[in-house]
Amino acid sequence: MSDSEDDGPPQLSSHALAALQEFYAEQRLRTEPGADEKYNIGIIEENWLSQFWYCQETALRLAQEAMRAAGDGGRIACVSAPSVFQKLRELQGEGASACIFEYDKRFAIYGDQFVFYDYNKPLDLPDSITAHSFDIVVADPPYLSEECLQKTSETIRFLTRAKVLLCTGAVMEEEAARLLGVRMCKFIPQHTRNLANEFRCYVNYDSGLD
Ligand SMILES: C[S@@+](CC[C@H](N)C(=O)[O-])C[C@H]1O[C@@H](n2cnc3c(N)ncnc32)[C@H](O)[C@@H]1O
Repeated sequence: MSDSEDDGPPQLSSHALAALQEFYAEQRLRTEPGADEKYNIGIIEENWLSQFWYCQETALRLAQEAMRAAGDGGRIACVSAPSVFQKLRELQGEGASACIFEYDKRFAIYGDQFVFYDYNKPLDLPDSITAHSFDIVVADPPYLSEECLQKTSETIRFLTRAKVLLCTGAVMEEEAARLLGVRMCKFIPQHTRNLANEFRCYVNYDSGLD
């Protein structure tokens, strides 16, 4: 590029122009009416932490199933499944007997119900969380890998009295059965965005998801 004024205004490369257009398209999407409901849960937008939120209907169905399975006054742990936790709060109110185990500290807005959780340290939990103190654990591990499912399963087995509702890829079916004794349900969870991988729910009890 020359410094001459005759060259006119500086030009963007085609790559830079495409990136800028993509940015503006994304901004428009975020500000269109309804965009918030589409990609956010509550006020929390998906970010880079492998966050793929369920659509409202799926979050509601899973929350209702968890409540039914936990029974009256039962305790529910949502492990890496914040939109189920949020639906439980909508259904049960602020005193919901549910806890959210999450790596994303934006969910610390839920105060005592929030437990910081990193699947890489499956049993690194506060002393207040005692073994087998939840009637059901609803979990959606962040990654589709054996390593992630193995570690998350360690947490699930520690937390649950017995019942497990796992949501993960169809490719994890055998590993999930081996680690948690769960089987695939007919119900197919849906997300706000289309996922590249087939996604399923698994349970180890007689659920309403078949
Ligand atoms: C595949 S998403 C599941 C979200 C679920 N579909 C929902 O709508 O609630 C995985 C979740 O794992 C969380 N996560 C990301 N990194 C994590 C980590 N290192 N340990 C535990 N959870 C993690 C993300 O914040 C996200 O909530």
